[in-house]
Amino acid sequence: MEPGRDGTILVDHPLIQHKLTIMRKAETSTLGFRRLLGEIAMLLAYEVLRDAPTELVEIETPLTTCMMPQLAGKKLCLVSVLRAGDGLLSGMLDILPAARVGHVGLYRDPKTLQAVEYFIKLPRDIDERMAIVLDPMLATGNSAVAAVQKVKDAGCTSIKFVALLAAPEGIANLREAHPDVPVYTCAIDQCLNDHGYIVPGLGDAGDRLFGTK
Ligand code: URA
Repeated sequence: MEPGRDGTILVDHPLIQHKLTIMRKAETSTLGFRRLLGEIAMLLAYEVLRDAPTELVEIETPLTTCMMPQLAGKKLCLVSVLRAGDGLLSGMLDILPAARVGHVGLYRDPKTLQAVEYFIKLPRDIDERMAIVLDPMLATGNSAVAAVQKVKDAGCTSIKFVALLAAPEGIANLREAHPDVPVYTCAIDQCLNDHGYIVPGLGDAGDRLFGTK
C-alpha cells in the first residue's frame, strides 16, 4: 500500500476492520481489547514493512544451492508512546522479535491538551535504525509530534508512525510538523470532542488496555 498524497497509509483490510469494530464496542472486555490490539499490531507490522529492502543471499535447500531474499537495510527500533503504545508494542514484538525498543512517556495536560514528557529511554544506536513510533490513538497529534521530535533529537532520520485510529486533526498536525514521517492507521474517524477524544473512537485506549477504569 503506497502512502496517500498526505503521507497517510490507511490499512483498511477487512480482517483489521472487523477486529477494530469489536475493540470499539463499549462492552468489549479488557482481555478482548488487549488481545485484539495485539493481533492488529501484528497485521500492521506486515504492512509497515511492505517497502523494507531485501537482499539476495545464497542458501542451501535439501535439493540445491540458490539465491533467496532476506531483510536488508536499517535494523528496527520500536518506540512505544506510554502507556497505550505498549499495547501495539507487544504484538509488533511477536512478529519482530529482534527489534530494539524505546519508550517515550508523555501525558496530555487535560486543560491545554499539550504533551508533557515524564520519561524517555531510547537505544543508543537509534541513529542507525529505522524507528517505528507506536501510539494507538492519534488524536490532537500533540503527543505524536513531541514523540517523533524526541526520536529525531536522538539522531534518527528514518521514522514511521503507527496509530490504530486517527482523527483528521491529528494527522494534519503530525504531517505539518513532520512531513517526512509517514502515518499508518487503520481508520480515520470523524473528529475530536471538546476533551480531545476521538469520535466515534473507542474511548481511552490506556484505560481499556490496562483495565484502569
Ligand atoms: N487518547 C485516547 O486514549 N483516546 C482518544 O480518543 C484520544 C486520545
